Amino acid sequence: MRVLITGGAGFLGSHLCDAMLAEGHSVICSDSLLTGRMENLAHHAHEPRFEFLPQDVCQPFDPGNIDYLFHFASPASPVDYLKHGIETLRVGSAGTLNCLEIAKKHNAKFLLASTSECYGDPLEHPQKESYWGHVNSIGPRSVYDEAKRFAEAATMAYHRYHHVDTRMVRIFNTYGPRLQIDDGRVISNFMKQALRGEDLTVYGDGLQTRSFCYVSDEVAGIVALSKSDEHLPVNIGNPNEFTILECAKVVLRVTGSASKIRFEPLPQDDPRQRRPDITKARTLLNWEPKIDLSTGLQLSLDYFRAAVHASSTATLR
Ligand SMILES: NC(=O)c1ccc[n+]([C@@H]2O[C@H](COP(=O)([O-])OP(=O)(O)OC[C@H]3O[C@@H](n4cnc5c(N)ncnc54)[C@H](O)[C@@H]3O)[C@@H](O)[C@H]2O)c1
Repeated sequence: MRVLITGGAGFLGSHLCDAMLAEGHSVICSDSLLTGRMENLAHHAHEPRFEFLPQDVCQPFDPGNIDYLFHFASPASPVDYLKHGIETLRVGSAGTLNCLEIAKKHNAKFLLASTSECYGDPLEHPQKESYWGHVNSIGPRSVYDEAKRFAEAATMAYHRYHHVDTRMVRIFNTYGPRLQIDDGRVISNFMKQALRGEDLTVYGDGLQTRSFCYVSDEVAGIVALSKSDEHLPVNIGNPNEFTILECAKVVLRVTGSASKIRFEPLPQDDPRQRRPDITKARTLLNWEPKIDLSTGLQLSLDYFRAAVHASSTATLR
């Protein structure tokens, strides 16, 4: 296949580029580099089946004939989407409509990277795909949550009205090598702080829970979904739930750091609980995550060490 991956220079998109190339496909990666990095793709520099297209997907463009479009472009971490609020709304809306038009034109299959944020601060726990969510449409996080909810609505509309062969994955918290260390997400914050010997910052009482999926598990789930015929959203994430405090302790153990834990006030709209119900992925795709948090952090350690080292050298320069 000839596959277009938008946002392919980002954390998840670059791992998806790797997976698609490994399956023997040709990959065009289009990215504006708003939050992504070319280093994430450096290992494909001499790969003839790989092409990088510098492109803001909110602008109309035509990549030529494609068989599959994976729409992953969007700021994704709270730090990024709060800094780039309007861009986030735009890529979720205009960018998604553009990508759906491209899929329609080339009769390509389409997969949207959606998010657990569609559930907002959920009143149902764990979250099943049938739950409609509890989202504050005017809070600071709404630029991301509502953009993704619009993107899902647009994807369903192109499926219903234009018969585009679409899929939607609701991705839950994913971590691993290439996660930006300054993105404000729990794992990157804790790993960076632990490796620098700084206090680990826990917001609120630290009893709010999260579930963390290792990137190879997440990508395997996305690839399985891409091959299925399911048009409705599917949760892909790790259902093992940790309190933020427990997570901080695992990070301290894996890194062998002597850092302490420091508590700070909870930011607005920070969800109390987030955990996927993955029954649908299990039954439909025969998929479930294999890597537990401790193992995933071990597998990420070299990357985080190198990233922390590079950032401190850059600061010293
Ligand atoms: N990482 C997670 O835990 C997670 C969770 C839920 C959903 N997602 C979704 O997965 C996708 C990828 O997330 P990520 O963690 O890899 O984030 P990331 O920031 O590392 O990657 C996003 C990529 O999109 C690119 N991009 C942003 N706006 C663009 C535009 N207008 N045109 C072209 N490229 C643009 C960025 O430059 C970047 O390379 C996002 O759609 C995100 O919403 C991620």
